[in-house]
Amino acid sequence: MIHSVIIGSGSSIPTRCITNDMLATVMETTDTWIRERTGVETRYFVDPGTSTLDLSVPAATQALEAASIQSGDIDLVVYATMTPDHYMPGNGGLLQARLGLRTIPCFDIRQQCCGFVYALQLADAQIRAGFAKTVLVVGAEVHSTFMTFGAGSWARLDGELDTPIPQDEWDLTTKNRHLVVLFGDGAAAVVVQAQTGGDRGILDHVICADGADFDRLYVPGVGSAHRPYVDKEMIGRGEHYPVMDGRYIFKLATVRMAEVAQAILKRNGFTPADLSLVLMHQANRRINEYVQKLLGLPDSKVIHNIQKYGNTTAATIPLLWDEGVRTGRITPGGLVLCVAFGAGMTWGATLIRA
Ligand code: ACO
Repeated sequence: MIHSVIIGSGSSIPTRCITNDMLATVMETTDTWIRERTGVETRYFVDPGTSTLDLSVPAATQALEAASIQSGDIDLVVYATMTPDHYMPGNGGLLQARLGLRTIPCFDIRQQCCGFVYALQLADAQIRAGFAKTVLVVGAEVHSTFMTFGAGSWARLDGELDTPIPQDEWDLTTKNRHLVVLFGDGAAAVVVQAQTGGDRGILDHVICADGADFDRLYVPGVGSAHRPYVDKEMIGRGEHYPVMDGRYIFKLATVRMAEVAQAILKRNGFTPADLSLVLMHQANRRINEYVQKLLGLPDSKVIHNIQKYGNTTAATIPLLWDEGVRTGRITPGGLVLCVAFGAGMTWGATLIRA
């Protein structure tokens, strides 16, 4: 019997810390509102010119080191991101070239906040089917360039502008403030390897999607739905940035995350009491507290990073995994549950014997 075991992990967070008070200088918001409604206290933004790929390279390198393997041992890359460096091609091949991984295959996953859960499912399926032995699975995002910050906002955040930013820029960011304040940049990676015997490894996955609700969180402009696919008017209206129906998603996320967590535990004969740790996607601390309560989990079995990093989309779960390993909260033999919900709509869970 082949098992897919996570043998190493790594992470990479930019050094530039953005506080809630700093965001309050580029839109109408307050530290109190953001903390109380979302749980976010700080997030980190990359320096200008640093892309998602750039951020993911140190995370992947660290994961290879932690796994004690060479880059030549990797025979597949699965890369999850909603903020790729380019519209096309995806970041998987770019990372393969940057790390010098020969001509091994690369998959790009576009399942947003559920991206890493989908990526792990694919890596595990490839390993069990015998197509791959050692897979590099990456979740990485640079959200900061994807938010409604104009040149004036950036100058303010960079400390280069004391005067008020242009009104239209202020208005656009304020209009999107419920979304902009949530997100931060980050990257993390794991190495998943085929092992025979033993009881360690990925035990099961449940992954789901409902495309009918796609427009509750999406980028309305830029794409083949338009001719031309992008133009000045579209950009003027800010339609190249995401829009979100936060209240709708909040309610759906609590229901779906609890539902999928209960389903995967039940079909594997476990209860929440059997879990060592639960890694929940971090979109809003209140969503996770609600799910925690529904599952009856004590605080000791849950790990959060939203207060430090905000929502890092596909990077969130591998960041939590890496932190769990490095702080000793994930140890060999422990039962770990990963649960995520995101745009698409997509949701899912992974059960892992660490
Ligand atoms: N600062 C100050 N006031 C704000 C802010 C802000 N940043 N954002 C919204 N408000 C105001 C609104 O304008 C509104 O004011 P009004 O009552 O005068 O109209 C009030 O606060 C309440 O607004 P809501 O949008 O209803 O606020 P809510 O409590 O729902 O919080 C939030 C918004 C944080 C976005 C929440 O709905 C949420 O977390 N939703 C889920 C997000 C999520 O899970 N996304 C999916 C994953 S992301 C992915 O897949 C990429």
